[in-house]
Amino acid sequence: MKRLVVYYSLSGNTQAAAEKIAKELGADLMRLDTAKPMPKSFAAQIFVGGGQVAFNHIPKLKPFELDPGAYDEIILGSPIWNGKGVPAVNAFLKDEKAAAKVTSLFFLSAGGEVSKGLEAITKHLPNLKNSVSLLDRKNEDSKDNDAKIAQFIEKIR
Ligand SMILES: Cc1cc2nc3c(=O)[nH]c(=O)nc-3n(C[C@H](O)[C@H](O)[C@H](O)COP(=O)(O)O)c2cc1C
Repeated sequence: MKRLVVYYSLSGNTQAAAEKIAKELGADLMRLDTAKPMPKSFAAQIFVGGGQVAFNHIPKLKPFELDPGAYDEIILGSPIWNGKGVPAVNAFLKDEKAAAKVTSLFFLSAGGEVSKGLEAITKHLPNLKNSVSLLDRKNEDSKDNDAKIAQFIEKIR
């Protein structure tokens, strides 16, 4: 089984989880980046990112470093923005063939209320089997992330 972990991360939390998951599974790793960078300040990120989610903006992505078509299975990671998955991940899922390969989804959020985000994103994922909600390192309950990741990986295997 050839697996690819695909993720977007603005401040490193989803990246850390993606790296761990890819390493444990022996999967390749690919980061999604928008062609137009996000602002540097958190306040501006909230303003710009929140607006993008509200208007369902689909950004242009930088060229992929790997070909999702060359993999059997994709494990997808997204932060939660305004209760939903991020615009860069929605842009990735415009490729229906790639979306059909996603079997497993991991979310990163500040507060853990991800049901709306899960709903918004899973409608694009006909073969989704596993999902896990992880917490930002600033949340004290993020100490449970490693155990949750271990369970998630067992389910994928
Ligand atoms: C634009 C924006 C909107 C966000 N909206 C939410 C939200 O609705 N709910 C929540 O729990 N966290 C929200 N967050 C926090 C992120 O989901 C959280 O910090 C996550 O760990 C970020 O992942 P990253 O470090 O990989 O970028 C938001 C962050 C940003 C930048």
